[in-house]
Amino acid sequence: MRPISAPFPMSRPRRLRRSPAIRALVRETVLSPADLIWPVFVCEGEGRRESIAPMPGVERYSVDLMPGLARRAADLGIPAICLFPCPDPALKTDDCREAWNPDNLSNRATRAIRDAVPGLAVMTDVALDPYNARGHDGIVRDGEVVNDETIEALVRQGLEQARAGADILGPSDMMDGRVGAIRRALEAEGHGAVAILSYAAKYASAFYGPFREAVGAAARLEGDKASYQVDPANSDEALRLVARDLAEGADMVMVKPGLPYLDICRRVKDRFGAPTFAYQVSGEYAMIRAAAQNGWVEGDRVVLESLIAFRRAGCDGVLSYFAPEVAGMLQAG
Ligand code: PBG
Repeated sequence: MRPISAPFPMSRPRRLRRSPAIRALVRETVLSPADLIWPVFVCEGEGRRESIAPMPGVERYSVDLMPGLARRAADLGIPAICLFPCPDPALKTDDCREAWNPDNLSNRATRAIRDAVPGLAVMTDVALDPYNARGHDGIVRDGEVVNDETIEALVRQGLEQARAGADILGPSDMMDGRVGAIRRALEAEGHGAVAILSYAAKYASAFYGPFREAVGAAARLEGDKASYQVDPANSDEALRLVARDLAEGADMVMVKPGLPYLDICRRVKDRFGAPTFAYQVSGEYAMIRAAAQNGWVEGDRVVLESLIAFRRAGCDGVLSYFAPEVAGMLQAG
């Protein structure tokens, strides 16, 4: 694209910035509640809401509160909720078996939402970390996160999530070959309509810190996740991973974290044209929230600006802890 413009003063770009009406006419991207996926933390108990210290304004909710949250999402025009369980620590084991318990926290929450608001899409996390005594996304043997054995566990976990009624599976584990294995298992069991939103380019990021507190994995984690998550210095590698996951049957792909990786979002969208999502992760949320609470930035404006940036960078949608707040702002106009 090579726009032609006359020299000054025949061209005055400010003409198109003169009034809200003219700015609205030429605006290139829009953010709508339909672009948002709301990540929700689930805890044990009843009528229970727990605050999360590094994420002010975000809480964990017990399963019985899921229908209320689902109705809120639907009323706000948010199409999907993404569930992250924070199970009883006593259920964390080395083999991570709670991950494929049909009645685990995540599967109970899925059914609760399914029954209450059938039209809302439920996305689930396919990864072992909430159930792993060692805090890793994969099974640990002799200090190593083992790939192929983890895939078998992920397939069992993903199948139970589909049986519970999940619409979208989100493998966030970064093992090699997991998308194809999950896709084949879904097809074989008659869950061909269940979508996979692959965390294709998931970086080994320090921005996940508050999340690990939220799901109770922080204290357990031995070492770091650099042997399976992507080096933040790499960009071409992200494209290879997206290509691989699409070839294995992913329907949508994700880049994670969000704002520090907008260059990756743009490259992925330009190269593949697939439905592309970004995750504005817990550390990004915490930074914006903390600055806003201190009065150092205008919270509402910064939140909206941060989210329109994802749309501008080519993302079709964003997972954001700000989802309900932002949808409310957008509805209010
Ligand atoms: C782990 C998982 C993580 C997040 C989503 N799924 C953390 C990690 O990889 O350690 C991070 C989300 C966030 O920080 O908001 N399966």
